Amino acid sequence: MSTTAKTAVPLSMPLKGRSFDVIKEELKSRGQGDVQWRQGKTAVYVFNAGDDVIQVQQQSYLMYMSENGLGPAAFPSLQRMESEVVQMGLSLLNAPAGAVGHITSGGTDSITMAVKAARDFARSQGKQEPYNLVMPYSAHPAFDKAASLMSLEVRRVPVGADYLADVAAMVHVVDASTIMLVGSAPSFPYGLIDPIQALSDAALANDLWLHVDACVGGYLAPFVRMNGVELPPFDFSCEGVRSVSADLHKYGYCAKGASTVFYRAAEYRDFMIFDHSDWPAGRMVTPTLAGTRPGGAIASAWAVMQYLGIEGYRAKQQRVTEARAAIAEGVTELGFQVLGEPQLGILAFSHPGLNVFAIYKKLYERGWVTSLCTAPKALHLMLSPFHQSVVETYLTDLAWAAQCVAEGATDSVTEVRYS
Ligand SMILES: Cc1ncc(COP(=O)(O)O)c(C=O)c1O
Repeated sequence: MSTTAKTAVPLSMPLKGRSFDVIKEELKSRGQGDVQWRQGKTAVYVFNAGDDVIQVQQQSYLMYMSENGLGPAAFPSLQRMESEVVQMGLSLLNAPAGAVGHITSGGTDSITMAVKAARDFARSQGKQEPYNLVMPYSAHPAFDKAASLMSLEVRRVPVGADYLADVAAMVHVVDASTIMLVGSAPSFPYGLIDPIQALSDAALANDLWLHVDACVGGYLAPFVRMNGVELPPFDFSCEGVRSVSADLHKYGYCAKGASTVFYRAAEYRDFMIFDHSDWPAGRMVTPTLAGTRPGGAIASAWAVMQYLGIEGYRAKQQRVTEARAAIAEGVTELGFQVLGEPQLGILAFSHPGLNVFAIYKKLYERGWVTSLCTAPKALHLMLSPFHQSVVETYLTDLAWAAQCVAEGATDSVTEVRYS
């Protein structure tokens, strides 16, 4: 006897289409319970560089929304924009002549493709499988996702007391099957730039592929440096760096669905490209994980970069670092301890006597949706230019939340999770 009728999912699509005016109203009202990011109430997920940039993102996205980056012969416009975005990125990251790159859908895509390239390169060199990746404990889980897709082992090595990659300890776990060393610029949990020069020296000495995850810092750190901050080397200026991921949809302020992955030379990049013809519809050559690639994301990345230019980015990134410095000072006055010495847009801060997870819960009551670190327990902010205008509000709410916890508020976050 069939049980299909009892268990089938009921048809929920409207029989007749609805008016778009009504649908628009519903879309608006559905967003009302979301975090009030336009008021700066989140310091994760959204990068708000101001209404003018949002306009440029939206309008340029719409102009190429139907076009498809899968077909460069059909859309030479997109191919040209991608190539120009890549050139702008490479030039910001001190890439040597001959370096190449592509636009991907995001940081996870960029990292996955770099890992694939490193794996296939290792195979071409006859390295012995099963392979492993060696990275600091602070590296992003995108590497674990890539590793799980490709059945690679991940070796996470504890960071030092300074929260930075411990290069000697990383080298210690390298073996003949290590295909990649990873450093972050900066790491998401601490916002600190790993010692990329030392990792680069180790990579060269051991003939290893070094990937720098600059998903957060790739389009931020170059401008912070232009603004006069002395940053350690973190990009292709370190000879051992073979690939870099840098997200356009984070501090590049481009529409979501856009990142870049760069390679020191085409000979490394060529291992990223998937080229398949054994099926009944011809040869399909795709550089990134996606097949169809949204033209809107490519066009909008190009348009935002043209709109802001170097001066625009410098001004936006100045606001980010000013907000970070003001918050670091404010939280220190409130008795918190900033982890390490952040120089970019992320900062994390712990408290010697108060439960920061309970403080987070109180802040949430005032509409703040930010992040937390687990090791050590700390509040975490990834700041946008807009946050410069809400520093005082945040510090006032933080002082209140800390006071509530000092006076006995115990309701606390029980699990830190992004999902
Ligand atoms: C350092 C770092 N790398 C990689 C990623 C992954 O990027 P995406 O969420 O665009 O896939 C993130 C996301 O926050 C990140 O902070």
